Amino acid sequence: MKRPDWLRPWTIAAGSALLAGIVALNGATLVVAGDHPTLVATALVADAVLLVGAIGVALWLAQHYEKQSARASAAVDASHARLASVIDSAMDAIITVDPNQRIVLFNRAAETVFRCRRIDALGAPLERFIPARFRGAHRDHIGRFARTGVTSRRMGDALVLWGLRADGEEFPLDASISQTREAGGNFYTVILRDVTLRKQNEDMVKRQQAELRELSARVLEAREEEKTLIARELHDELGQLLTALKMDLAWLRERLPPASSELGGKAAQMEALLDRTVTSVRRISADLRPLMLDDLGLHDAVTWLVEDFAARSGIDCRLSVPEEAELAGLERSVANTVYRVLQESLTNIARHAQAKHAWVILGAGGGHLHIEVEDDGRGIVADDLAQPRSLGLKGMRERVLYLGGSLEIGRAPRGGTRVLARVPRARETGAAT
Ligand SMILES: Nc1ncnc2c1ncn2[C@@H]1O[C@H](COP(=O)(O)OP(=O)(O)OP(=O)(O)O)[C@@H](O)[C@H]1O
Ligand SMILES: [Mg+2]
Repeated sequence: MKRPDWLRPWTIAAGSALLAGIVALNGATLVVAGDHPTLVATALVADAVLLVGAIGVALWLAQHYEKQSARASAAVDASHARLASVIDSAMDAIITVDPNQRIVLFNRAAETVFRCRRIDALGAPLERFIPARFRGAHRDHIGRFARTGVTSRRMGDALVLWGLRADGEEFPLDASISQTREAGGNFYTVILRDVTLRKQNEDMVKRQQAELRELSARVLEAREEEKTLIARELHDELGQLLTALKMDLAWLRERLPPASSELGGKAAQMEALLDRTVTSVRRISADLRPLMLDDLGLHDAVTWLVEDFAARSGIDCRLSVPEEAELAGLERSVANTVYRVLQESLTNIARHAQAKHAWVILGAGGGHLHIEVEDDGRGIVADDLAQPRSLGLKGMRERVLYLGGSLEIGRAPRGGTRVLARVPRARETGAAT
């Protein structure tokens, strides 16, 4: 039976003291005034007054405490009602289970998420809403959670958790769990959200990114092939025609009348023009596609590229390149990427850096090639990297990522710009997806 609220230690003590006082007073009166009926009567009247007073005070106290306790329990009821309405209006599903993993709270959002009425869920085991293959893992998780004694945490960090609707459909969810210790054991509350739509969107974005990367790689490859073709045509066709023209001109010059200095001068001018044209054709075809990359390999192509850059730009450029053997046997796409990264970095130095010196380090090791191009120019800022119409650095990144490598562009220790790329020697399967 519930003990009344007013029955507290101090009320018991006060009541006992009052009774003891009355008994003591009566005892003293009997001893001192046994022969004086008026005194005995007065004592009796005093007793009655004290008794009535004590009963009055006790009744008042009882009423006071009853009211106080009624107010407190009304406040508790109101707070429960408030909490229930908050829980019920929450957007996320909230489920509490008792120490036996039976559901004791199932809010309205949980009804929607699990397509199950509260009345059917209450008392049911939580595992009913977990796909069979995850039930063991869930039990382990709860066990571990209980042992750590932590009061709350996100469930399944970095993994996708799965729930099971009443109609048998599975869905991905995000959840956090908290525990409270009560008399009968641990109660667990799971707050969870159906993330089907988010997961679908994430999957779609990933798929589209992979498709775009594949597409951009194809475009780059096609451009590369086209450039190779034009470079070969320029080099072989036009180069040979110009050589033939030069030979014809030499033949003509030999047969010119010795006295005709005007004709001789014109022929000399034509020869000089032809020489310049041959040089131009060589340069254009080399810019389009260094045929030596195919014919002689990366080592010689890089050496030529850096020397040509230094000669054309006037920038002092140091090159460190591994032994030829270390760069042998590279896949064509890898050699292409290394060459194009170097070419774009050097072109950028010539166009934007206002540098006096540049350093190119090509390294090979650990199944990777490392490219480092640094200058001592004006440096690069974040805005430069985000310019919508600039494609050089973006193309570079695309090429490197497609091969499963990494690229960093930023300020160099010497104050200029540094491009750092790391490319696997062989294209990693499933890279950049
Ligand atoms: N070495 C560098 N030093 C200073 N600024 C640089 C350097 N490299 C690039 N930048 C800056 O970064 C910007 C982007 O370079 P990016 O190569 O992407 O484009 P771009 O060279 O302007 O044009 P393109 O598309 O023809 O390559 C450049 O416009 C330039 O402002
Ligand atoms: Mg550029």
